[in-house]
Amino acid sequence: MTVAVITGAAGGIGAGLAREAARRGMQVVLADRDADALREVAAGIGAAALAVPTDVTDPASVEALAEAAYAAHGQVDLLFNNAGVLSTGFSWEIPAETWQRSLDVNVTGIINGIRAFVPRLLAADRPARIVNTASVGGFLPSPLMAPYSVTKFAAVALTECLAGELKIVKSQIAVSLLAPGPVKSGIFREPPPGVAEQFHRAMVDLLEANGLTGDEFAPLVFDAIERGEYWIIPQPEAMEPGFSNRNAVIAERRPPQFFLVEED
Ligand SMILES: NC(=O)c1ccc[n+]([C@@H]2O[C@H](COP(=O)([O-])OP(=O)(O)OC[C@H]3O[C@@H](n4cnc5c(N)ncnc54)[C@H](O)[C@@H]3O)[C@@H](O)[C@H]2O)c1
Repeated sequence: MTVAVITGAAGGIGAGLAREAARRGMQVVLADRDADALREVAAGIGAAALAVPTDVTDPASVEALAEAAYAAHGQVDLLFNNAGVLSTGFSWEIPAETWQRSLDVNVTGIINGIRAFVPRLLAADRPARIVNTASVGGFLPSPLMAPYSVTKFAAVALTECLAGELKIVKSQIAVSLLAPGPVKSGIFREPPPGVAEQFHRAMVDLLEANGLTGDEFAPLVFDAIERGEYWIIPQPEAMEPGFSNRNAVIAERRPPQFFLVEED
């Protein structure tokens, strides 16, 4: 038996991961703060799915998720810290609470997952894997998406720190960093007012035109997990040439260049 716990499983990428895990014969524990949508996804999967409404920003809620997963199955083999939010706008106009929500969900959410599950996984002393969802945006900063860029860069760093620490203690827990490109989902919600609205709409159009569905995306993730990959970047075309250009810009001490921003 393999048991997968997936946060942000009520829609988009998380729901796709949950369905694919079940298709591959796993038991799935689905977590999301949207309890109604979560139960719908779980019902669609059937007996292999357990829905545990969870707010990843709340350590007690994530602790309760871990307790529920171990109570139901006695083990966890795969943890996807996948819940995430995105907001657009000028960094000085984005309300303080929106900034805080991005930090709370995209960074503290992963920290809460690590703090609740790693001690249990270490105690179990058997092979397991933690997959943290960042984004190609965790390697390529995007103006008008500062809360997203900042938190996804943090997720990349946090995941590498975790991988190194688990090596130090010689644990059997493997780690992966998942960096999706465009995937059709509910991630772009309310457009901001003013100039940033055009940017928001351009991003929504890009997602609609080029995005995979969650169900197309998920098998690529599980295939990479089977290959034991740390860097899971199923759509490398979304990362390059931007990533190489950025590295060159830094190495050569040139000023940054920006996606969708006209040069003078
Ligand atoms: N869709 C893309 O193009 C894309 C690209 C790169 C990275 N990602 C990342 O993939 C992950 C999944 O996003 P998605 O695109 O499926 O978006 P989505 O909005 O469809 O799904 C995110 C889920 O997280 C849940 N969530 C939000 N706050 C939560 C909280 N406090 N506690 C528990 N659940 C919470 C939402 O209810 C939602 O169901 C995110 O981390 C996102 O940043 C998405």
